[in-house]
Amino acid sequence: MQKILVLDFGGQYSQLIARRVRENKVYAEVRAFRNITVDEIVKEGYTGVILTGGPHSVTESDAPHFDPKLLETGIPVLGICYGHQLMAWMAGGEIGTGGECGEYGQVNVRMKECLIFEGLPAESVGWMSHHDYVKRVPEGFTVTADTEVCPCAAMANPEKKLYGVQFHPEVTHTQYGKDILHAFLYKICGCTGDWTMASFVQDTIQKYQEEPAGERLLCALSGGVDSTVAAVLLHQAVGDRLTCVFVDHGLLRKDEGDLVEKTLKEKFNLNLIRVNAQDRFLDKLSGVTEPEKKRKIIGEEFIRVFEDEAKKLGQIDALVQGTIYPDVIESGAGDASVIKSHHNVGGLPEKMGFKKIVEPLRMLFKDEVRQAGLELGIPAELVWRQPFPGPGLAIRVLGEITREKLAILREADAIFREELGAAGLSKDVSQYFAVLTDCRSVGVMGDERTYGYCLVLRAVTTDDFMTADWARLPAELLQRVSGRITGEVRGVNRVVYDITSKPPATVEWE
Ligand code: XMP
Repeated sequence: MQKILVLDFGGQYSQLIARRVRENKVYAEVRAFRNITVDEIVKEGYTGVILTGGPHSVTESDAPHFDPKLLETGIPVLGICYGHQLMAWMAGGEIGTGGECGEYGQVNVRMKECLIFEGLPAESVGWMSHHDYVKRVPEGFTVTADTEVCPCAAMANPEKKLYGVQFHPEVTHTQYGKDILHAFLYKICGCTGDWTMASFVQDTIQKYQEEPAGERLLCALSGGVDSTVAAVLLHQAVGDRLTCVFVDHGLLRKDEGDLVEKTLKEKFNLNLIRVNAQDRFLDKLSGVTEPEKKRKIIGEEFIRVFEDEAKKLGQIDALVQGTIYPDVIESGAGDASVIKSHHNVGGLPEKMGFKKIVEPLRMLFKDEVRQAGLELGIPAELVWRQPFPGPGLAIRVLGEITREKLAILREADAIFREELGAAGLSKDVSQYFAVLTDCRSVGVMGDERTYGYCLVLRAVTTDDFMTADWARLPAELLQRVSGRITGEVRGVNRVVYDITSKPPATVEWE
């Protein structure tokens, strides 16, 4: 299989670059520059390398550098932003650091003849975010684009298949970014588009069919998309040797637990045990208001319930987890400085003593997990569910969690989701949900004064959940949702829409 190495120098878009490559049906991996050598890159047979952006200046003595031998291997290389400057530096060019040629935001880029710009207009918009710039290109290179202020917005050494762009082709703000990446992959690297979810599913099933016969596997289902896809995939490979334990903590959305159970049992004939542990969780959460404490209690209780069930099953050899590629990258495979420490309820501790951990989705991005789910025949309504935090509705009921508040939130959230879906927007918005605040306000219904909860609607668009923009939902849709919630859900008399982006807010309220 052809594969591209995204060599990570700490840029915020490294994951996005890999996703964009994969959208072109080419497999890509993100590796931190410090974790791989040129010899390994050659040995592992990468088809091409992309040097990412990064927050440093290549001229600093402690800046991340890379062995210039890479440029002599014959493997095509594309440098982006910091990667462009680094490539120039590695090949003997000169970097300007004064900032006089720095740019930020959308900038007009004037392109010259170059294979990666073939067929594009001579001038188009590129997304820039740089202080330093390439002042003099190395020998063998030519400048292939510039801007009003930046003398080298792109460079190329076609003979050695080395290309650099100062702007970011991976972000949608760059007008022809997609075409440029596509040209690098197909025209320069010679990729043929052999990475599809159909082939991934087939290969993965085959791989796990070869696992030692007789081994028993256990899968912890959290109710989310990832663990559901992992379970169905593994089941196709090992059949009834897989047992799934679905811990229902009572903090799922309306009807979600039933949908997961019904689909997995009836459609896929999975060996599934649903543990209704709502009371256990709610007892532990009683009186708890602090968000991190809620997370901790839920995480720990999940493990305890799961352990109790696992004990009843006798000897189990392997634990199946729905870990996906962003988790792998964020836990250190890449070089990003932001590491999220979200507790993933599906993540169980190593001390549970399984001989091995099986993670069939560990190289997939979320959108690929969904595609794999569809390939496996999992219904679209299950596959297209938006991300849902492990602690579930517990962090969307602000303050103390009670059965009454959970019931209110479930109904309101279901109305919001239903209306957004009916408006045809569910795939345009990355995440949308209701939050029940701990605040009551005065209202009027008929001739009666009411004193009810204030409910928040939250909807965001984002590429990576590290930053997010509030979704500009149509006013008519918001009005309909507000009308239905205040009319149909007892206890709510005020609905507000959250118009804060991340940062400074986060997506969730707790
Ligand atoms: P924040 O609120 O940090 O959310 O902007 C970013 C994304 O992470 C999800 N999230 C969580 N997921 N356990 C999870 O598994 C958690 O404790 C948790 N907190 C937030 C959130 O839903 C969003 O998709």
